Amino acid sequence: SREVARIPVVVHVVSSSPEAEISDEQVRTQIDVLNQDFRATNPDVGDVPAAFRDLVADTRVEFSLATTDPAGQPTTGITRRMTTVRSFGTDDAVKFDDSGGANAWPAERYLNIWVCTLRDGLLGYAQFPGGAAATDGVVITHTGFGTTGTARAPFNLGRTATHEVGHWLNLFHIWGDDGTGCHGSDEVDDTPNQAGPNTGVPTFPKRSCANGPNGDLFMDYMDYTDDAAMVMFTTGQATRMAVCLDTFRRGLWA
Ligand code: ARG
Ligand code: ZN
Ligand code: CA
Repeated sequence: SREVARIPVVVHVVSSSPEAEISDEQVRTQIDVLNQDFRATNPDVGDVPAAFRDLVADTRVEFSLATTDPAGQPTTGITRRMTTVRSFGTDDAVKFDDSGGANAWPAERYLNIWVCTLRDGLLGYAQFPGGAAATDGVVITHTGFGTTGTARAPFNLGRTATHEVGHWLNLFHIWGDDGTGCHGSDEVDDTPNQAGPNTGVPTFPKRSCANGPNGDLFMDYMDYTDDAAMVMFTTGQATRMAVCLDTFRRGLWA
């Protein structure tokens, strides 16, 4: 398989309260989780039921905070902005200085991650490959970011960013985004057909769409379970992300 793809990351911390002004340490815990989850070195990968163990993939993607900014100057890879905007939605306002957020760094060189206060219980959202550079990247609410500081259970293990970066690398939800029907597909061959999203902490086996005996792959990062229950990507998902990394997102690492 190809060399490990190392992706430079910039984290834009956009805060309207001292609480949301998360620490560098909280940011670093998130980068650590991304590296563990994408390399299948996460301490809970052993929670995968034996029936699904062969599907677990090391995606060979790693992440590190940028050390050089767009002007070529040394950086911590973390930008900080205080804002009067108390909360953000999915309209991308957080991605522009002019609307109370922070402008993206060039998307062909950095993975942009914005951390802010998202409203209506939204944990995060992502832009798929192929969109505008100015809005490319992922947005995560600060209470679902990293594993320390303001991170709050049951979303305090950093899995929201793992899930959103999966989307950013072209993964769809594992249930195929067709509500609770059995027709939608995630366009990945090794993930079982699954009706709708799973939530909380399901018990194996959880069957739907005649996918017995082993049922849904609810422990996959692209489902909607609690952070403690999502622990793997599959080989098929790794292949789909690799295609994206070798084409649309090649400039980020090659
Ligand atoms: N976009 C999803 C949401 O905000 C993210 C779900 C992430 N799940 C998790 N366990 N962290 O609803
Ligand atoms: Zn999602
Ligand atoms: Ca599938």
